Amino acid sequence: MTTTSESRVPKLRVEDLEVTFDVGRGRKLHAVDGVSFHVDEGETLGLVGESGSGKSTTGMAVLRLAEPTSGRVYLGDTEVTGLRSRQLRPLRKRMQIVFQDPYSSLDPSMTIGQQLDEPLKVHTSLSKAERRARVDEALDTVKLSRRYTSRYPNEFSGGQRQRIAIARAMILDPELVVCDEPVSALDVSTQSQIVNLLLGIQEQSRTSFLFIAHDLAVVRLVSARTAVMYLGQLVETGPSARVYDAPAHPYTAALNSAIPIPDPDRQRTRDRIVLGGDQPSPLTPPSGCRFRTRCPFAMEVCAEEAPPQYPIDGGGYAACHLHTHGPQLRGASVLPLIHGDHLTTPLVSR
Ligand SMILES: Nc1ncnc2c1ncn2[C@@H]1O[C@H](COP(=O)(O)OP(=O)(O)OP(=O)(O)O)[C@@H](O)[C@H]1O
Ligand code: SF4
Ligand SMILES: [Mg+2]
Repeated sequence: MTTTSESRVPKLRVEDLEVTFDVGRGRKLHAVDGVSFHVDEGETLGLVGESGSGKSTTGMAVLRLAEPTSGRVYLGDTEVTGLRSRQLRPLRKRMQIVFQDPYSSLDPSMTIGQQLDEPLKVHTSLSKAERRARVDEALDTVKLSRRYTSRYPNEFSGGQRQRIAIARAMILDPELVVCDEPVSALDVSTQSQIVNLLLGIQEQSRTSFLFIAHDLAVVRLVSARTAVMYLGQLVETGPSARVYDAPAHPYTAALNSAIPIPDPDRQRTRDRIVLGGDQPSPLTPPSGCRFRTRCPFAMEVCAEEAPPQYPIDGGGYAACHLHTHGPQLRGASVLPLIHGDHLTTPLVSR
């Protein structure tokens, strides 16, 4: 849902979140390392990055389905990270998740009606008739027939199962839904149907969404703001249109380069950064800027100092030394650098 600047209220606040996994022989894997962001009421924040960058772990830690090592998570006024495990139950009503795999997220032994009714039974005192009405409404919301309540998950396609999973996530009218790659396992035409469904739900509810995906084109469609994650850290955040049209971090520019443009002429002449090499292991991240081993613009300072979050023209932040050293972009896009003569001709955008 679109909100005016006056009506914005942070619904989810994540402050300096760390999640470390003990992977044996005394080794610690920093899956999430100092991540901070917020999602306003009724807003969708997209979270993108390559496989293994820590997106799911971030989403799971927000819901306390993975245990944060340090940092704070607030849902409204509730400090989620401060709750004991038995205090988490009421929180489950307020926060929900939709997983990537529609084939394993539903219980094969329960009918659709039972699976939609279960959260209502656990978390509300509604009568049977009232619950039945809610289940019907939830099916209407995801555009499935009310007659499906007596059927089992194996009678449905992947797209239909994802609709059921979305209905189950929304049935308690939650404050926050984490969507962890909800369309990645679906074919392209089903993906667009589910994206349209989510857009309709966003319009009609005050629910906030954290929408995790690899596919930047999808994230741009559904998210007002985007956060880009690399090796456990946020490298860039900002309004989605700015992040896509004028990326201020070389990693974002590289991710954007991977999105095909339908117009062949524009595709040929576009600015591109090709992302080479593999993502380093989070067990042994590079010193300074973690992207430096793959960055075409890496400077000496990049190995020595972790870049601070630098405010960007058009909104948001990027953690890159290019905004304070070398070509000195002064808060602008990195796209002009891609043509190659940037290191001898310092670029100042204004
Ligand atoms: N339970 C776990 N134990 C140990 N390491 C884990 C665990 N869960 C995740 N990791 C590691 O943490 C890092 C981040 O994983 P995560 O699943 O959050 O990434 P992701 O961005 O969601 O990736 P993908 O796009 O493939 O879903 C990876 O290196 C992963 O191997
Ligand atoms: S800080 Fe340096 S290595 Fe990192 S993205 Fe910026 S230029 Fe590249
Ligand atoms: Mg994941």
